[in-house]
Amino acid sequence: MNIVDINKPETEPADEYQRLKAALHRFVIERIEDEDVFYDGDTKRLAKSIAAYIGQYCRIYEFPIAEDEQAVLEKELLDEIAGYGPLQSLLEDPDVNDILINGPTSIFIERNGVLEKTKLRFLDDRHVLRVIRRMISPLGRRIDESSPLVDGRLPDGSRINAIVPPLSLEGPCLSIRKFRQEALTEDDLVSGGAISQEAMDFLKDAVHARRNILISGATGSGKTTLLNALSQYIVDGQRIVTIEDAAELQLQHSHVVRLETRPPNNEGIGEVTARELLRNALRMRPDRIIVGESRGGEVLDMLQAMNTGHSGSMSTVHANSAEDAITRLEMMVGLADFKGSDTLCQKMISSALDYIVHVGRCQDGHRAVFEIAAVSGKQCELEPVFCYDQTTRTMIRKARNQNGVERRSEPRTPQTGGGLS
Ligand SMILES: Nc1ncnc2c1ncn2[C@@H]1O[C@H](COP(=O)(O)OP(=O)(O)OP(=O)(O)O)[C@@H](O)[C@H]1O
Ligand SMILES: [Mg+2]
Repeated sequence: MNIVDINKPETEPADEYQRLKAALHRFVIERIEDEDVFYDGDTKRLAKSIAAYIGQYCRIYEFPIAEDEQAVLEKELLDEIAGYGPLQSLLEDPDVNDILINGPTSIFIERNGVLEKTKLRFLDDRHVLRVIRRMISPLGRRIDESSPLVDGRLPDGSRINAIVPPLSLEGPCLSIRKFRQEALTEDDLVSGGAISQEAMDFLKDAVHARRNILISGATGSGKTTLLNALSQYIVDGQRIVTIEDAAELQLQHSHVVRLETRPPNNEGIGEVTARELLRNALRMRPDRIIVGESRGGEVLDMLQAMNTGHSGSMSTVHANSAEDAITRLEMMVGLADFKGSDTLCQKMISSALDYIVHVGRCQDGHRAVFEIAAVSGKQCELEPVFCYDQTTRTMIRKARNQNGVERRSEPRTPQTGGGLS
């Protein structure tokens, strides 16, 4: 059964304009279907048909419409048929990072780090569902009561997640993390105040010296963005294997193998997890492994890989602080059937990781590196190397560990070609 009962009348749109749009929309769609003017990628032809049908509607129902209103309606209907409806303009706006839809009348966006509610709205639940289905059908996925949540990517690389009733009580919900076609570079991050040049140089040295780096932070705090920027410091020619749920990293290197996890299909089979990919990656003779996000059992394999010759590896983790990142790792290792004691687990994390870089969002939405901490000792002691002062918006170099990456310990020696031990 469909999640939305098709016999149920559609929710009454809020105002006159929405009512007109809904009626016009139905009128145009019906004509387009009746006359077989299906959309074949020719947007100009479709726009012409839409304009003609709007004119026809206004004549039949003696509905006067101003030229500029007609132009807006034409664009909206075009977006509806050829694009993603009310979301099309947001998807085309380069200043919008995230689009969050909580049911038909609640659309939020994140612009310049700040979340705001838009005036845009869908006609009803079915309208949201139609757009979700348009997004996921090219991926061979479906969404309905029996399969009520879906992850995927739009053709431009944007990450999407949809969840619908009965799991969502707000009606169909959709979250989109837009893909930035031009990744933020060192210059962007430094000039935008996300990190000081000194701290960036420190991290650059750390990447060159093949330190293992974990980037921690809350959701949307800029972990992937920083990982992407740091990965650009890897010397070209090294063999990099990346593992991600949805490929977001934009590595410019000549020798990269990108692996992507696969969710189960509609029958619940065929899933390939990050852990399986990581184990496979170890057989692919990688120089460095980059795990887009550590969230499960792959952590154990990743830490082992970091300790056994795949130094210079990097990943991200959801955590509220650098300390919390260690706790999260311990928890994930525990869930991955690690048989050793807590002490052994801490020792393994400590000898695998060199630095934790914690990123976050200030109250005004500005993103920054809050802390760079060196990991050492048997119990994963953290030694702050840089800290961010939110009031002055500056990064402060801590007194200890003044000597930088190279003197902290011997540079890690790469041993390529390691198999699964
Ligand atoms: N320093 C920055 N300046 C401006 N925009 C940024 C910065 N860092 C990240 N962003 C933007 O913020 C959004 C979230 O960034 P990113 O995807 O890196 O976060 P994340 O922590 O990896 O999120 P998630 O937890 O969902 O994976 C993106 O749209 C990105 O372009
Ligand atoms: Mg991310």
